[in-house]
Amino acid sequence: MNYLLLQVETAVPEAVSTGLFDALSPLEKLLFTMILLVLFAGGWSIMNLSNSLVQMQKARLLAKVDPEILKEVGIEAVAPTIPWWKKVYDRMTDYVPLEKEQDFLLDHDYDGVQELDNNLPPWWKGVFYISMAFAPIYIYAVHFSDYAMSSREAYAVEMEVAAEEVKAYLATQKNAVDETNVTYLADADALSNGKIIFDSKCAVCHGKEGEGGIGPNFTDSYWLHGGSIGDIFKTIKNGVPEKGMIPWKSELRPSAMQEVASYIISLEGTSPANPKDPQGEPYDRSAEETEVTSSK
Ligand code: HEC
Repeated sequence: MNYLLLQVETAVPEAVSTGLFDALSPLEKLLFTMILLVLFAGGWSIMNLSNSLVQMQKARLLAKVDPEILKEVGIEAVAPTIPWWKKVYDRMTDYVPLEKEQDFLLDHDYDGVQELDNNLPPWWKGVFYISMAFAPIYIYAVHFSDYAMSSREAYAVEMEVAAEEVKAYLATQKNAVDETNVTYLADADALSNGKIIFDSKCAVCHGKEGEGGIGPNFTDSYWLHGGSIGDIFKTIKNGVPEKGMIPWKSELRPSAMQEVASYIISLEGTSPANPKDPQGEPYDRSAEETEVTSSK
């Protein structure tokens, strides 16, 4: 159903030029036609009901008048001939005249409320049978053929589309970087921003040239918490508080953490004066798309 709604919604702009009906899929056209038929039948029933009420009232009034007088004014029959539409309508509703109602009365009585054993109106049964016939078509189309999507499939498709949209949106958001989508920034601007941050906030523990101190050496290819840009970003963001590396997420914007992470990576392979011994596991950066450029 969701899928159906989505289809109709997305079809609307197109419909302005081509007509709403053309924009619908055949299955939706069938459903739409059935809904129209039911609405039409409903409107038609109401119209006829009020018509026959008027006719009944007329007959009741005329019955009180002397037939002789009626003849003089030119009205012949007191009981009007039943028009064709009334006959069709009566057949559609399985109409039972008032005087025959006694035959249908059930023999129970609730505080004076009695029950008639009327048939269901044929128009109602018709709609019911049509929907019964439609059900297998719908089930087949939605669940067993490639023709229409089941709500599960439609949901999956919508989620995929939404994920793409989120990705596209995040790409436009500089500060929306996180450890899952962060990339190495090779441009000189970003790296010099990274250096400014590093010098003012990180150098105390990691050394002026990244040679290490309280914190690990950044000029070797060994990493305690992973050497990919994502891992480094994550370490900077969340820190390793129990080991003395504070989390920086409340102090640095994501774009700043991306810049300083890129700067740290750019230090790899440089030769500072007093390097701290390598710690952790070696990380092979050659497999990464983002090559460290010589912009340090
Ligand atoms: C108060 C000292 C201190 C400061 C300031 C500091 N760090 Fe650290 N940092 C550490 C320590 C200690 C570790 C090692 C944690 C461990 O042993 O798990 C570390 C680890 C790291 C690591 C992980 C290294 C690896 O081998 O996995 C990165 C990346 C890092 N710091 C980046 C930064 C950045 C960027 C800044 C500045 C914004 C910064 N640090 C500021 C103390 C510090």
